[in-house]
Amino acid sequence: MPAIDAIDDLLGQHPRAGLGITPTPITKLARLSERFQCSAYVLRDDLTGFCLGGNKVRKLDYLIGDAIRSQADTLVTMKASSFSRNAAAAAAVLGLECHVVMPGSAQCHNPASGRLFDALGTRLHYIDGQAEDAVQQAHDMLIAKLRAGGRSVYVLHPGGSDAIGALGYVQAFREITEYSTDTGVHFDHILHATGSTGTQVGLMVGQNLSGYSTVITGIAVSQPADVQSRRVRELAATVSERFGLDWVPDNLVVDDQYLGEGYAIPSAEARSASELFARAEGLLLDDVYTAKAAAALVAYAQNGRIGTAQNVLFIHTGGNAGLFY
Ligand SMILES: Cc1ncc(COP(=O)(O)O)c(C=O)c1O
Repeated sequence: MPAIDAIDDLLGQHPRAGLGITPTPITKLARLSERFQCSAYVLRDDLTGFCLGGNKVRKLDYLIGDAIRSQADTLVTMKASSFSRNAAAAAAVLGLECHVVMPGSAQCHNPASGRLFDALGTRLHYIDGQAEDAVQQAHDMLIAKLRAGGRSVYVLHPGGSDAIGALGYVQAFREITEYSTDTGVHFDHILHATGSTGTQVGLMVGQNLSGYSTVITGIAVSQPADVQSRRVRELAATVSERFGLDWVPDNLVVDDQYLGEGYAIPSAEARSASELFARAEGLLLDDVYTAKAAAALVAYAQNGRIGTAQNVLFIHTGGNAGLFY
């Protein structure tokens, strides 16, 4: 029986901002299970209940908790992502200022995303060009300027995947463990999209602390498996050091077979998985994160990587805003 005490010892040291609604539901996908000949479940992290934020809400819950504890009055992050939009939303409701450094001019960005940032009162700083170096330099200069002006700045990793952000998915793993204890349903596999790595690292920390035996597979949506695995290991090492855990992820599984042509490019398998999930279960998946993970689930059920008697948990990490632009 997995234990949650060690998870609680870790999480108890870190304040949450109280964003969102958790635990999110875990439900059986009855029609897909029948079709796949296994028992498929979903963790509804598309329903984290704050600004259509999906998995970002869990990360921000701890990040903003940490920002408040460190008496920050200003958040700074970079890039036009659902993470920065949700950081902006959290800042707005908690009375903090939020600045986002945006690569390129306003015209380079989707107008729908711009409208959401405007609605949230975000201070956007567009810069010339898209080069990583230029964005980083503008970001660092902005932070220096804000600090020189007396602001107490909390810097948010773009994607929220630092040690504190990963705690959001340690919390999610705690909920999974509790579900298994309450229902007797033990998940042989857990499957989710992996990008900036915080989701996978948090889940793996939770697994390690609880001793829950399962295979957590990150379906790569942005990088080939070797690069993605290296990034997961790097964050895992940071987490271990920061929280004093004696842990290395020696059971890491990353699969890049569903990446298609690359980050943010839809694929035929993902489109077909998303139609299947919509028609069988009324579950909406975005094309470039959750649908790629769903394509893996479909293939694993077909090729026997998930056995007929096994339970698999698909983590729906959100991406709902992306359905509309
Ligand atoms: C909808 C969705 N799912 C999954 C991910 C991947 O999560 P992580 O960045 O924690 O690896 C992202 C990241 O942007 C996302 O937006």
